Amino acid sequence: MPQSQVEAARLADGVWRQARIAPSGNPGQVILDGAMVVRDGLVAWIGSEAELPAEFRQAGLAQHDVGNRWITPGLIDCHTHLVYGGNRADEFAMRLAGASYEEIARSGGGIVSTVRATRAADEDSLFRQSARRLEALLAEGVTTIEIKSGYGLDLPAERKMLRVARRLGESYPVTVYTTFLGAHALPPEYKDRADEYIRLVCDQMLPALHAEGLVDAVDVFCENIGFSVAQSEQVFIAAGKLGLPVKMHADQLSNIGATQLATRYKALSVDHLEHLSEADVAAMQESGTVAVLLPGAYYFIRETKQPPLELLRRYRIPIAVSTDSNPGTSPSTSLLLMLNMSCTLFRMTTAEALMGVTGNAALALGKADRHGLLAAGRAADFVVWSVESLAELAYWSGLNPCSAIVRGGRFAAVSQKEMS
Ligand code: NIG
Ligand code: FE
Repeated sequence: MPQSQVEAARLADGVWRQARIAPSGNPGQVILDGAMVVRDGLVAWIGSEAELPAEFRQAGLAQHDVGNRWITPGLIDCHTHLVYGGNRADEFAMRLAGASYEEIARSGGGIVSTVRATRAADEDSLFRQSARRLEALLAEGVTTIEIKSGYGLDLPAERKMLRVARRLGESYPVTVYTTFLGAHALPPEYKDRADEYIRLVCDQMLPALHAEGLVDAVDVFCENIGFSVAQSEQVFIAAGKLGLPVKMHADQLSNIGATQLATRYKALSVDHLEHLSEADVAAMQESGTVAVLLPGAYYFIRETKQPPLELLRRYRIPIAVSTDSNPGTSPSTSLLLMLNMSCTLFRMTTAEALMGVTGNAALALGKADRHGLLAAGRAADFVVWSVESLAELAYWSGLNPCSAIVRGGRFAAVSQKEMS
């Protein structure tokens, strides 16, 4: 939806009635005869309809009878690489012929091929290419998204990616948080000079992009085919000097101590985690770091090692779920499909999956004070679902049961058929 349409979007003010509401996304804490009052972009009141205060019973307030449908907070996709040029369908074919993700990366393909396409695209083209992916995510009820840089790997191209991410947030009914992932891969011009590249990231790229207001958080791909623990630490130190929170692509293909480092720097989240150890999980508990699981990447690269769900549960680590939308390992634009996959592939419960894209995803962004909860005084970001039970959000694959999406108190989308 272009900017003009966002401004013109219809207000969702009034009383939302006859609703079953899961205010925090937790299916264990619901209001079965719920009502919610929306005013000036915010939730003005939420509770049992029988207790609706007199001031909201007056005639004249718009009435939105949702016919016993479910309402949850707007969904949050807390780990994406949504902005990039081109795609890697050719590499997909190579992998089908037997090449591994690591082999392709080591032979100059992989992330670096997307870097070439992203550098070559001008800002408008990058915006258009990314917008259609964003539109698909939003159609399923996403109202908040994190978007990383990391396919530019030089200052102008990283800036271009982050500017496009910001523009997407201004042009569509969604809140965008940007993450600088300059340490995603070694750009070809720095071959065999990784330490030098890390100095560029820390001393020039990050401070410049931060000064331009383009960075909300900092991420690093800490892995054998990414950056070492020592190099990753340099980036975290640079982020700390600017007061920026950190997170990490950790323990995806091997365990080189990524999570241990991330927890020492109080990372908001560590993401992927197939190779996470018990000592890592204990450290996460200490540092309050969220586990972000990415079943789309696990599925697409046909990983067989599962993230240690039982350990995460035992240590009561909040678990978020995200698309990791990216051209190499998770070309997915469906967060609902990730709910399904987190259950089928990782054996999460449907309740855990839903909390993973609402309250726990907000925690992973360090924004639990702003997103992932419907309460008086909070933003009116919510979705009305045509489902009998919340488990259906993780059950279907391909069906989109969104009836209405409201973001900032305005209709972002409504299915006429369902809401009539
Ligand atoms: O999250 N692991 C590193 N980054 C991406 C993959 C990026 C790519 O292959 O283009 C990920 O899986
Ligand atoms: Fe990722």
